[in-house]
Amino acid sequence: VLRTERVGLMPEHATELLDVAFRHPIRLIANALGVPTPEMVERAHTAGIPVAALVGTAQHAERQLNVGVDLLIAQGSEAGGHTGQVATMVLVPEVVDVVRAAGSRIPVLAAGGIVTGRQMAAAMALGADGAWTGSVWLTTEEAETAPATKAKMVAASSSDTIRSRSRTGKPSRQLRSEWTDAWEAEGSPEPLPMPLQTILAEPALRRVDTAADGGHAGATRLATYWVGQGVGMMNTIRPARQVVAAFMEEFADAASSMQALLK
Ligand SMILES: Cc1cc2nc3c(=O)[nH]c(=O)nc-3n(C[C@H](O)[C@H](O)[C@H](O)COP(=O)(O)O)c2cc1C
Repeated sequence: VLRTERVGLMPEHATELLDVAFRHPIRLIANALGVPTPEMVERAHTAGIPVAALVGTAQHAERQLNVGVDLLIAQGSEAGGHTGQVATMVLVPEVVDVVRAAGSRIPVLAAGGIVTGRQMAAAMALGADGAWTGSVWLTTEEAETAPATKAKMVAASSSDTIRSRSRTGKPSRQLRSEWTDAWEAEGSPEPLPMPLQTILAEPALRRVDTAADGGHAGATRLATYWVGQGVGMMNTIRPARQVVAAFMEEFADAASSMQALLK
């Protein structure tokens, strides 16, 4: 398993991974942590598949526009997973301005910390065409999140996440735990560069999850997973359809309150 992971994570195997993706009936291909190669964009466009890109700064957005992506996701620092340091509130209007100034009409989605319909309305007030979410689904009944970690997420506050290099070698936001604390502690070794830290960390973290799900107290303290600051508002485990319904309801309420301000 480790050997397969090693192969899959090396940049020179990216084409093979794309081969796998394109063998499936995909509707969208999204890339992050850099600009897609012209070959990837061309291959997707030839197959009629739009290419999306996650960006964390206005400069990233310019670079992605230059290679012809079809959709930008302005992902602020609050987000779960690999993230930069600019907050969603600042990043979204900046990216929208870059796109429109370039004369482009491609959609911009807002991401990072959006776990409610009123935040989605706020994102659209900032100029986004919609919202892109990740964390909010992790505490749904359908989510494959390890049960002990799901319980930790439900209990966590918005201050309980950290951008740490301890999982992949690049800063990614996750639940703060004894695992992240140990890597951040004075005297600890520096995390390895991507992809080596993933190869080191993932097998260990999978064993941690198994032990935590079996009720082991030490493993439960170590357990962590990618999640954004919105975790503070993810306080119940509920079906995904309830998340969707709550988003729609709250979005409509927020949009009506905004309109009422103009009367
Ligand atoms: C568990 C998890 C895994 C993620 N994995 C990826 C990934 O592989 N590629 C990617 O582009 N974004 C990834 N993301 C980021 C999401 O695409 C999304 O931008 C982010 O979750 C939005 O912020 P939010 O978590 O506050 O909703 C991941 C996010 C989470 C929470």
